[in-house]
Amino acid sequence: MKTILALETSCDETAVAILRGRNSHSGSELLASEVASQIAEHEKHGGIVPEVAARNHLVHAPRLLERTTLDAKIDMSMVDVFAATSGPGLASSLMIGASIAKGLAIGFGKPYLAINHLEGHLLSPFFGGADSDGQIRPNVSLIASGGHTMLIRVHGLSDYQLIGRTVDDAAGEAFDKVAKMLGLGYPGGPEIEKHARAGDPDRFDLPRSMLESENFSFSGLKTAVRYLLPKLKGDFLADLCASFQQAVIDVLVRKSIAAPRKYGVDLVTMSGGVSCNRKLRRQLGEACARQGFEFKSAEAWLCTDNAAMIAFAALLRSQAGFESKLTEEIDPNLALAL
Ligand code: KG4
Ligand code: ZN
Repeated sequence: MKTILALETSCDETAVAILRGRNSHSGSELLASEVASQIAEHEKHGGIVPEVAARNHLVHAPRLLERTTLDAKIDMSMVDVFAATSGPGLASSLMIGASIAKGLAIGFGKPYLAINHLEGHLLSPFFGGADSDGQIRPNVSLIASGGHTMLIRVHGLSDYQLIGRTVDDAAGEAFDKVAKMLGLGYPGGPEIEKHARAGDPDRFDLPRSMLESENFSFSGLKTAVRYLLPKLKGDFLADLCASFQQAVIDVLVRKSIAAPRKYGVDLVTMSGGVSCNRKLRRQLGEACARQGFEFKSAEAWLCTDNAAMIAFAALLRSQAGFESKLTEEIDPNLALAL
């Protein structure tokens, strides 16, 4: 029964979570999870300023460490493994979480585990328990977030193969940029989803790019919206949001259901901020069912950045015997799979 404390500071959210494995393999119990968002702070600057993000992590992390240990009713000395996101992300932000976790590991004489942020997302559909033998079932995994959009062939824990990735904007980035053009707030995904609810997804014929490729491209779609906007008059916001959202969903769904047969698996998983999107969850679920594939999405609260997913990846890795060296550096460009 291992207790993991994990920090996530790869971008603009400071997060700490404490997770306890129930027995050697099956199941885990989340004892505490806290996320401190810096959105309001960065909105003042019109985007994320790395220097500001790092300083905020320094302010928030000690407070969250105190709160989570109180919530979990544990003492730091009861933690068995200290984990932190070591990449990809902003160097100065990653450094804060990793340094704190390493310091705690040294101070309490416990192991340190460096976790890839994308592996945190990738494993989050299995949160709460892998298979009874601790295995992650082979699957095709869609990670769609603000920084990344990729399809991964998952053979098992730590055994990942890249199927395709975006060649330009990430899906979440497209939501954010289009929301900005429309004068909506940040993050753009939830704003567009909200307005799209009352809209007609067929009103505007927007491009679905690179459908025949395993890679993704969303910048053409964003540009199409930019060119269309000045020509529009009257009430168009809901229909434009709905049409844009549907174009992104069509691409994500089409590629995600084309891959399993080719790669010989019958399970599709989905994670990352964009997978909060209810219409995407529903339509990918329905498309998988039509093809006879099982579909597992991360629960909505686990889709956007958090430390529970980092703690879960650390728990599975720790149970599988992984440990990181204290000399292991953070890597802003850390790859998940080649
Ligand atoms: O995973 P995440 O929190 O951070 C990264 O690792 O990037 O993802 C944030 C992204 C943002 O681009 C945001 O607009 C998008 O996820 N997002 C959504 C929704 N909620 C968040 N996109 C579409 N629909 C949503 N409901
Ligand atoms: Zn993320």
